[in-house]
This record gives sequence, C-alpha cells and structure tokens, in this order.
Amino acid sequence: MSRYAHLTGWGMAVPDRVLTNHEIEQMVDTNDEWIIARTGIRERRIADKSDTTASLAAKAALRALQGTDVKAREIDLIIVATSSPEHIFPSTASLVQDRIGATEAGAFDLSAACTGFIFALNMAAQAIRSGSLNRALVIGSETLSRMVNWEDRGTAILFGDGAGAFLLEGRDWPGGVMSCVMRSDGSGGDLLSVPAGGSFMPTSLETLQKKLHLIQMDGREVFRFATRVMASATREVVELAGMSLEDVDLVIPHQANKRIIEAAARGLKLPLDRFALNIDRYGNTSTASIPIAFCEAFEQGRTRAGDRLVLVGFGAGLTWGALTLQLTEPERVVTPVERRRWWVFAVLARLRSVLRRVGRRLESWIFRARAKPE
Ligand code: COA
Repeated sequence: MSRYAHLTGWGMAVPDRVLTNHEIEQMVDTNDEWIIARTGIRERRIADKSDTTASLAAKAALRALQGTDVKAREIDLIIVATSSPEHIFPSTASLVQDRIGATEAGAFDLSAACTGFIFALNMAAQAIRSGSLNRALVIGSETLSRMVNWEDRGTAILFGDGAGAFLLEGRDWPGGVMSCVMRSDGSGGDLLSVPAGGSFMPTSLETLQKKLHLIQMDGREVFRFATRVMASATREVVELAGMSLEDVDLVIPHQANKRIIEAAARGLKLPLDRFALNIDRYGNTSTASIPIAFCEAFEQGRTRAGDRLVLVGFGAGLTWGALTLQLTEPERVVTPVERRRWWVFAVLARLRSVLRRVGRRLESWIFRARAKPE
C-alpha cells in the first residue's frame, strides 16, 4: 500500500522586538526608502537574550502540535534546518527534542542555508513514504541577527529572526508532499558565507578582528543566481508532480528580496497575487521564511484544504530547491483555546528534562560511590 506524507500541523514563533529600517539608519549609511525600494523590507524581528534558535524552534514546534491530536512523545523524527545553530554540537534538533518532550524521536540538524527547510521537508517526507517512520517535525529556525555584521549595510538590512514548524504524518490516501527538486552548486560557496569558526578557519583573535565570524555576501551575484533558479526550479517541480503552472494555487517563496520574487513571477508568467509575501514585516529569516509565510497565508485564508502549493527557495551553498504540496482536510478542528495551550506542554517538558538531569546526576553519584574501593 502506498504511503503519503501529509501536512497535518504547523506553527510559527517570532521574537517580539521589531527593528525598523529607521532604526537601521542609525547604525549604517542607508535609508528607509532605499531599503523598501531595493528589498521590500520595512522591519524585521530580532531575538533578545531570552530567545535562541532552539527556543524559537521549540515554540514553533509546540504550536504545530497544538493544532493536532499528536503528542510530542509520538514524534519519530525532528529535523531542524538552520544556518544559525545553537552550537556546533549538540544539534539544535536535540535541544528541541528535550524542550518539547519528544522522548521517542531521533533528532538532527540539516545545513543547506535558506533552502534547508525544503530539503528537510523532502527528507522527512521520503522517510514517511518509505514506511520507516510515521510522524516527523520539520523546523526552520534562525537567530541570524547574531551573525550579522551590523556595520555592513549590504547585509544588516536583510536578515531577521524567527521559526516555523511543519508536522508531517503518514496516511494511506493521496496528499501532502508530491514532488521535490534539490540542487546545489558549491562553486558559488564564496558568494554567501560565514568564513570563520569552522575547520577551515578556526576562530582566532584575527578572525574576530576581521569580523570573519559574521555573514559575508556578494549581494549582486546572489541576486542574479536567485532570479535564475526560482523560476526554473518551480517549473521543474510542477512538471515532476504531473501538474501545470495553472494548477498551482499559491507559491510560497523564500522571502529574501521582493524583487527576486517579482522576477520569478514574471519568469513564470504568474500574477504576483499567486505568491505569499510577508518580507515587509520579517525580512529574510532564512530557513524559517517559508514555514512562516505559509502559517500567515493560511491564517489569512489565502490557502486551504485541497490547494496545491509550490514551496521554492535558494541560499548559500549555493543551494536551491522546490517542493509541491497538496493540503488536505484537517482531521480535527482545533479550538483557539487548545491552540493557546502549547505553553502547558512546554512547562511539562521542561520539568521532565530537569528530572532527567537530576536522575542522571544521582545515578552517576551512586555508581561512583559503589565503584569506590573498600
Ligand atoms: N543602503 C543604501 N545604499 C546601498 C545599500 C544600503 N543598504 N547597500 C548597497 N547600497 C548601494 C551600493 O553601494 C551601490 O552604490 P554604488 O552604485 O554607488 O556602488 C548601490 O546601492 C547599488 O548596489 P547594489 O549592490 O547593486 O544594490 P542592489 O540593488 O543589488 O541591492 C541587495 C543590494 C543586497 C539588496 C541585493 O543585491 C540583494 O538582495 N541580493 C540578494 C541577497 C540575498 O537574497 N541574500 C540571501 C540569500 S538567501
């Protein structure tokens, strides 16, 4: 029997702090009109000390579960796509697993920059379709504001923080993820990178002084690459799904620059209102931008059960990809009160985590006491 990976839950989380273009005018030589005209961005969200990539991811994940009957302990797999992980290791996904109490889940991070959410969604969907697991949480989460050089006007205006999560579940009837295109071209790796802090250039006083631990980008070249691949990947993935462009109800593009999305719409000869657009309020949230745009589009009634969507993105690597997804009827209507209950589960998961840590200490203490020679 064929298995299908349906999208059954989704959620988003963004920090409260809004950083406007006018505030960025105080930091670098730029202005509100230029930023809006060249990118479409008016403001973005910036994490304060209390929020990290893992905390935003956990909030989005709990909100995604809140819309369903699924308990965290029933999740089989968590993938966090991120370009701003909590640490090099442990993975951000492992921290999320602990924070939400997904006691039975395997968890790992996926690094493919802004395309990461599409790649992760496809990996999880393939695992579900193969029958090897049944429920997966796919999360895109970022605190890129911590990797931005706030003295560089070419990048400081672009990025924002946030997270979005999708719950995929196996079903025996058609729907959910239909096709996917995944591509990369490492010859363009230098166009958008964080050069230091890895094996090639470990962090040193010199790398810190030269700000090589922060995002470096050739904006013009990335722009040229993006306008080329957005339309071609969309065409390819639609064809793979046996559809035509006219069958696509909504395109959820990576929100990097409004002009890139407009160019893709022109290239595909689709009206701009067939694209979800919220870059004006969040900027580029990298892996989180597609799930956040989807959550808002659904909330605004721009998409509903039965719709066929294209998710399309690009990013550092260089990487790019697209995925088609059919939304299916929710199996259960969730009340607004239930939706707000997510924090109760967060508190319970935290309590469980603390008890496990205490338990591990006690175990270790008893083991050592017993192992002591008489
Ligand atoms: N404010 C004011 N002027 C700026 C500026 C800013 N923030 N950034 C650049 N400029 C200036 C440049 O110095 C240049 O001036 P010059 O002509 O005197 O040299 C002029 O504006 C045009 O620069 P250019 O780099 O050609 O601008 P652009 O229209 O390409 O816009 C980006 C710059 C970064 C907004 C655009 O290239 C872009 O969005 N690229 C893609 C980036 C991206 O998507 N990255 C993430 C991938 S996931």
